[in-house]
Amino acid sequence: MSVVAVIGGQWGDEGKGRVVDLLAQQSHMVIRYSGGNNAGHTVINDRGTFKLHLVPAGIFNSETVNIIGTGVVVDPAALLEEMETLAAAGVTFDNLFISDRAHVIMPYHLEQDRIQESQRGDGRIGTTGRGVGPAYSDKMERIGIRMGDLLHEETLLPRVRRALDVKNKLLELYGGQPQSLEPTYAKLREYGQALKARIATTHPLVQQAIGRGDRILLEGAQASLLDVDWGTYPYVTSSAPGAAGACQGAGIGPRQVSSVLGVFKAYSTRVGGGPFPTELLDETGTELRERGHEYGTTTGRPRRCGWFDAVAARYVVELNGIDHLAITKLDVLDTLPTLQICTGYQLGDQTINYMPSSDVELSQVKPIYEELPGWQTSTDDARSFDELPPNAQRYLLRLEELTGAPATLISVGPARDASIERVPTYSFFA
Ligand code: IMP
Repeated sequence: MSVVAVIGGQWGDEGKGRVVDLLAQQSHMVIRYSGGNNAGHTVINDRGTFKLHLVPAGIFNSETVNIIGTGVVVDPAALLEEMETLAAAGVTFDNLFISDRAHVIMPYHLEQDRIQESQRGDGRIGTTGRGVGPAYSDKMERIGIRMGDLLHEETLLPRVRRALDVKNKLLELYGGQPQSLEPTYAKLREYGQALKARIATTHPLVQQAIGRGDRILLEGAQASLLDVDWGTYPYVTSSAPGAAGACQGAGIGPRQVSSVLGVFKAYSTRVGGGPFPTELLDETGTELRERGHEYGTTTGRPRRCGWFDAVAARYVVELNGIDHLAITKLDVLDTLPTLQICTGYQLGDQTINYMPSSDVELSQVKPIYEELPGWQTSTDDARSFDELPPNAQRYLLRLEELTGAPATLISVGPARDASIERVPTYSFFA
């Protein structure tokens, strides 16, 4: 078995794109398994800097098969636009397949996302506004349109009519714009025509690859603390971005996964609303934001920044059976005189070492910190663990102890080679 799942360990934006790009070089197949174009994976390679929202990161290698899996929700307009941008950089798509079971983000989902957010007032989730939540709700409601439907005129029309009957009533209730059947249907047919060579039944492709022992990378989007079941509900996304979701979204059994790689920033960030116990609203928070260029890839929003939360990280390691940590952006901490790691929470007069399920309680906890000395020297050029300053090594070793997983991959800069591999990355597939 040679299947590696790469998952986000915090609230997203951990630098999964970079890690996935590194591993995609060695993969025969890359599968995006959940989320939609709410994701933004930055990949920097010899062709330039790319922001991928839906297209898997293996697309730059024409030998790698790339699959937008069943668990993804696809906005066809956004996908076509992304493909156009990539095509301008010389990328071709003969190696891209979209699961015919993946659900479509419809124009009314965007409208619904916008209206629902505005009605949430102070309780706004801070969604990316891409219609992701409403598309997943309709999938569960069983009125979703799937990518495969775009290819079948005879079933598409009644399905869109049925969906619009329901959605238009809702939109009217919310004070939104009802949408007409004919133009909606015509647009979907247009998307179907444009993508027909790419929409496929992906299950046989994946199982044949497993049968051959191909190296398969499951590319996560969003992150475990945004998981609809295990995240900071209701301030979460609408999918299961973790290792179990990877199996479900890609159509791979849990026993076929060889290792799970959890990507964590060396500190924490979050975009949108919701509790964030280690958030820093002071100068250090600003310094992390500026040094780490912490602005959303998809929305451009400034990210909230804070210290590494080892309570949350250990929870995520346990939930996902994480075998290896990839710690990104260690270099962002280079200037700080001291560092804090959250090792517990104070909730009223109680000390707890787990994440409470209640968002109210989680927003009330006071982090208990352990202070470590900073290293105040550049780590940019380190290419092995031994080349890191002793205090940086100490910081990483402490993260390992607290989370219970080895920090196997460490990044110290945005370029592909600015990383420390403590074991060869191909061994993840073994
Ligand atoms: P949605 O996924 O657009 O519904 O947004 C729900 C929550 O997840 C919001 O707090 C978003 O900011 C957050 N979110 C969704 N996708 C990402 C991502 O790729 N990175 C970071 N946060 C995300």
